[in-house]
Amino acid sequence: MAIFEYTKSEFAEKLHKVVSPNGPIISCEHLVGRQDQLDRIEKALYSPGRNIFIYGERGVGKTSLAATAANLWQSSDSDYIDISCAPDTTVKSLVANIASQAVKATWMTESKITEQANIGCKWLSYSLKSEVSSTDLASKIHGLSDALEILKEVASIHSSSPVVVVDEVDRIEDEGEVDLLADLLKQLGDKRVKLKFIFTGVGSTLHEILGAHRSAIRQLETIELPRLSWNARWEIAINALKAFNIDIPKEIYIRLAAVSDGYPYYVHLIVERLLWHLFEKEEEAIVVSWDDYYKALDDAIFGIEAELNRPYQLAVNQRERAYEHVVWSTCADEWQGASLQEMYSQYKNIVPQIDGVDELPYEKYTSRIRNLLKDSHGAILKKGKKKGYYEYREKVLRGYIRMQAEANRVEIISQEAKVEIQSYMRAPAKNLGYHKSVIPKGVKQN
Ligand SMILES: Nc1ncnc2c1ncn2[C@@H]1O[C@H](COP(=O)(O)OP(=O)(O)OP(=O)(O)O)[C@@H](O)[C@H]1O
Ligand SMILES: [Mg+2]
Repeated sequence: MAIFEYTKSEFAEKLHKVVSPNGPIISCEHLVGRQDQLDRIEKALYSPGRNIFIYGERGVGKTSLAATAANLWQSSDSDYIDISCAPDTTVKSLVANIASQAVKATWMTESKITEQANIGCKWLSYSLKSEVSSTDLASKIHGLSDALEILKEVASIHSSSPVVVVDEVDRIEDEGEVDLLADLLKQLGDKRVKLKFIFTGVGSTLHEILGAHRSAIRQLETIELPRLSWNARWEIAINALKAFNIDIPKEIYIRLAAVSDGYPYYVHLIVERLLWHLFEKEEEAIVVSWDDYYKALDDAIFGIEAELNRPYQLAVNQRERAYEHVVWSTCADEWQGASLQEMYSQYKNIVPQIDGVDELPYEKYTSRIRNLLKDSHGAILKKGKKKGYYEYREKVLRGYIRMQAEANRVEIISQEAKVEIQSYMRAPAKNLGYHKSVIPKGVKQN
């Protein structure tokens, strides 16, 4: 069926099956480029007492990997238990929350809990019968042995293969609680309690997330999640467009992959806007054009979360327009930060791409860069680990800055990415099983 044949509601329904910029992926079918991590998680879960800790930069896909892995491991007799941490989360509140979700999941089988109560499921039957809140239950927990008892009950009542996802452990402020959690996990392992935990944490290193408590998680399988590979980036785009019988030329999907910077969020967002644009377009769309791509990019920028938009606006809305170009020049590096010299040479590539702009001399340029460390300028940069290097405070911002530059028709590609792109350009186009002429209907051929 061609895209124009859908009604608006049919289109929107199908669209959100193929792209989800605002929610995590929950099934293998839509999770691309993470097979290695899924395999590692599966093997680790087979090992008694072993749990998982997924960490990586903001927006890289941690919650999606955790949710997909949880759905694979969780037996079909129930949904997995899903907990989000907050700054005031404690082991007691966490355990009470797990118990109350387990009770809710099994509320229809109240008899099951009552039956278990007779053989010692006292905590869960208490929380079920008196309709107590999880805060009430938390206040009744004294020490780790109570917590352990509750989790044993959860394991026995919830399902045959229960999984708990604990999202963003790094948000827990009290460091003592992290140690307690580690103790609890160890005891669960020692007692062979059949409850599997998948934790996620935001940060580029384990040290950054857990500091001195790193040893506390020794018994966890740690999975560092990198940005998506180039292939995975365009697989999302190609598959989503294919669902509507639309082809995307290789040059465009490679550019989209470069601009997204490996963050699946940006790929989903641009493709979502692209599909809306193609749906609303007057002419029948069977192949994406550069014009479609740029329109989608403009729309995607408007749709970006305030959290990313605000620092960018603070950085560029200075008296001088030059700040915009200085900011763009910071986003060429691929990951580990860039030196002033490297950024300045990018800047020198940018200026000739814009009409009527004079190049800032090196000293002025570097003082603008240093201003980007200040709160008044969005504090988008921070000093890097290597002397004389600068990196992004939030790495996910780099993709947004790339999108801004690209929407202004300024191409920013690092040397590293250029080499990568050239090699992909030489390889045959990726059609993923779908092939169609790239010449639109009605276009005359010689
Ligand atoms: N492997 C993947 N394949 C396709 N899309 C993905 C993949 N991983 C994540 N996504 C998409 O990317 C976006 C961000 O994913 P997710 O919320 O899982 O990231 P996160 O690392 O948990 O982010 P945050 O740090 O903000 O919590 C979502 O739109 C999700 O649908
Ligand atoms: Mg998340």
